[in-house]
Amino acid sequence: MIPAISRRETGGAPKKYLVTGGAGFIGSCFVLGAVSRGTATLTLDKLCYSGNLLNLLSLKDNPLHRFERGDIGDFSFILSLLEDFRPDALINFAAESHVDRSILAPEDFVRTNVLGTHSLLAAVLAWWKKLPAGAAEKFRFLHVSTDEVFGSLRAGEPAFTESTPYAPNSPYSASKAASDHFARAYHATYGLPVLITNCSNNYGPRQFPEKLIPLVIARAMRRESLPLYGNGENIRDWLHVEDHCAAIKLVLNRGTPGETYNVGGQAERRNIDVVRTVCSALDELRPHPDGPYAGLIRFVADRAGHDFRYAVNSAKIERELGWKRKFGFEQGLRETVLWYLENPDWLAAVQSGAYRDWIRKNYPDPEAVS
Ligand code: NAD
Ligand code: DAU
Repeated sequence: MIPAISRRETGGAPKKYLVTGGAGFIGSCFVLGAVSRGTATLTLDKLCYSGNLLNLLSLKDNPLHRFERGDIGDFSFILSLLEDFRPDALINFAAESHVDRSILAPEDFVRTNVLGTHSLLAAVLAWWKKLPAGAAEKFRFLHVSTDEVFGSLRAGEPAFTESTPYAPNSPYSASKAASDHFARAYHATYGLPVLITNCSNNYGPRQFPEKLIPLVIARAMRRESLPLYGNGENIRDWLHVEDHCAAIKLVLNRGTPGETYNVGGQAERRNIDVVRTVCSALDELRPHPDGPYAGLIRFVADRAGHDFRYAVNSAKIERELGWKRKFGFEQGLRETVLWYLENPDWLAAVQSGAYRDWIRKNYPDPEAVS
């Protein structure tokens, strides 16, 4: 149980956070930052395959942090946590987050991302309606979403803005789009102070090694093939996870309820170039006698419905809230590679039997060269 903490006057910043999905990649970065700034934080996480208490190990015994295992879709459990903890803000990171898994098992994404988010909103609304007026006005529900809801860009098309129409292409992005619509509707219909962020591809420490960058680092460390879908020309806009978390903090403190904020990295890169940059960093940091890591790259069958390009226009959050990214991509990526090299125990711990099953299922022939 977290002791009561008085609200310090720091520009109206919320002092108690309930963070859902806080044991995952981005959520844990946010929780670690919040607690280090003195914010009492309750992390709620179902601890699915990508959720890992190792990510929050440094907070063990920290009186500012409390962990509860649970599902965002469990209405009565969420309600009881809200009544007990009385947060100033709830930040929802909880989701099924991997596009390839959504292609193989879309119903899991409907369950958590659509039904779970809706149930969470409903529980928060029921609790929020009973708050005294001042507390209700100050409360924030921040829903963390993705640029993938906007669909795919062609080369040369302008980056996504907050007014780009939604056009999701994968079961993952469709489920995130649905959750965004529910979050927006809870503001428009019931007045719940909802904020939404739509962020581009994150990279950094503690990302589950199913996503491109940690997958490639982990496989390269074992001298396994590095699978690139299709021709490797697809483009993503990369942002360091700490820059994303700084944006979320700003939106919580200064954002206008009912608004959405795009967050991008201004670092559009082709997948082949991302993987080559990882390989160059490894060549420098851990040279291998068998030769450069780029020799392990293999082109494999393309992802079904593979979005060609994402690019995010962050002008609104920069102009209105003063956000600015700190990490340049190449330097941030080099530091990320270093983090994985220095944390082999973390990597080994998350690469359980279930992880190996996933690799077999998604890459039936990882050695195939197109
Ligand atoms: P992640 O898979 O690493 O973390 C998701 C977390 O949610 C895990 O800890 C998991 O255990 C938890 N979770 C899953 N289902 C749950 C449920 N029903 N109840 C409670 N907890 C549950 O994902 P991530 O990359 O950290 O993404 C976090 C959020 O950010 C997601 O909503 C994702 O859509 C969004 N996002 C991710 C990126 C990215 O590049 N990774 C970019 C933009 C937005
Ligand atoms: O854009 C934000 C989104 O970024 C988030 O909403 C998602 O949660 C997150 O997973 C991420 O989605 P992507 O599909 O873009 O990320 P992923 O790391 O899976 O893939 C990045 C690119 O690399 C994509 O074009 C597919 C490609 N890829 C991926 C894997 C896993 C490969 O070429 N080979 C691979 O083995």
